[in-house]
Amino acid sequence: MEKIIDKARILIEALPYINEFKGKIFVIKYGGSAMKDKNLKQQVMKDVALLSSVGIKPVVVHGGGSDISKLLQSVGQESTFVDGIRVTNDDNIDYVEMMLSGKLNKQIVSDINYYQGKAVGISGRDGGMIQAVSLEGEKDGMSRVGKTVKIDASLLYTLLDAGYVPIVSPLGVDENGKSLNINADEVAGEIASELKAEKLIYLTDVDGVLDDGKLISQIDSKGASALIENGVISGGMIPKVSYCIKSNVSNVHILNGTLEHSLLLEIFTQEGIGTKIIK
Ligand SMILES: Nc1ncnc2c1ncn2[C@@H]1O[C@H](COP(=O)(O)OP(=O)(O)OP(=O)(O)O)[C@@H](O)[C@H]1O
Ligand SMILES: [Mg+2]
Repeated sequence: MEKIIDKARILIEALPYINEFKGKIFVIKYGGSAMKDKNLKQQVMKDVALLSSVGIKPVVVHGGGSDISKLLQSVGQESTFVDGIRVTNDDNIDYVEMMLSGKLNKQIVSDINYYQGKAVGISGRDGGMIQAVSLEGEKDGMSRVGKTVKIDASLLYTLLDAGYVPIVSPLGVDENGKSLNINADEVAGEIASELKAEKLIYLTDVDGVLDDGKLISQIDSKGASALIENGVISGGMIPKVSYCIKSNVSNVHILNGTLEHSLLLEIFTQEGIGTKIIK
C-alpha cells in the first residue's frame, strides 16, 4: 500500500513544475551518442511524449554521430572530426543527410507517436528554417559543413501552436539551396535562442561535463571557457558547452540521455542532475 501511495506522492511532487512549465518551450538536443540502445531511446521518447501531454512544448533536435559513422564505414568511408565537428563534403553529404533526415528523424517521430505524442519530422531545410553558409575557406574539407546565419522559426511556431512536437534534423540550406550539415548542438542552441525557450537541454552519453571523470554539477561561462582552453573539455563536448554559453536561454543543462528518465528527473524533481550552465 505504502508503495502505491509513494507513486501518488511522486505525481504530486511534479505538480508545481507542471504548472510552472505549461505552455513553455523546451528545446531538447538528443545526441546520436545516446541513441545506441533501442530500449533507452524509447524511454527518452516516452518522456518527450509525456512532456507534451502535460502542456509543455518540446522541440527535439537530434544528432546522429554514431549511426552516420556506421553508414559511412559500410560504404568504405572514414569519419573525421575537427573539434567535435564532422568533416562533411560532397563525398559524404548525401549519406549524412539520408541518415539524419531519412532514417533517424523518422524513427524518432514514430517512437513519439507510438507513445501518443503528435510528432512531425522536419529538417532545417523545411520552410527555409535554417539558412546557413559553408565553412569552406575557413576550415579544410568542410565544404558541406554549415554555420547558421538565420533561423526562420515560423514553421516551428505553426507546429507548436497546433500541438505538434517538431523533430528537427540538423541540416540547413545555403543561398543556392544546397544542403549543409550543421552540428546539432549548434542547431539546438540557435533554435532555443530564436524561440526564447524556457530550457535548453543537451542529452548525451555522459553524465555531464566531467573533469578527470568527476561530474561538474555547475559551471559558469568563464570556467567552461577555461576548461576548453586547457583541453579538459574536448571533442563533441566543445560545441555543446559553447552553445550553452552562447544561447540566450537562462536554464541550460547537459544530461546523460542513457540514464533512464533523466529528462523527467531534471524537469520534475528538485534534485538537479547533470551539469547546469550558470549564465
Ligand atoms: N570534459 C568532458 N566531459 C564530458 N564529455 C567530454 C568531455 N570532453 C570530451 N567529451 C566527450 O564528448 C562526448 C559527447 O559528445 P558527442 O559529440 O560524442 O555526442 P553527442 O553530441 O551527444 O552526439 P551527436 O554528436 O551524435 O549528436 C562524450 O562522449 C565525451 O567523450
Ligand atoms: Mg556531438
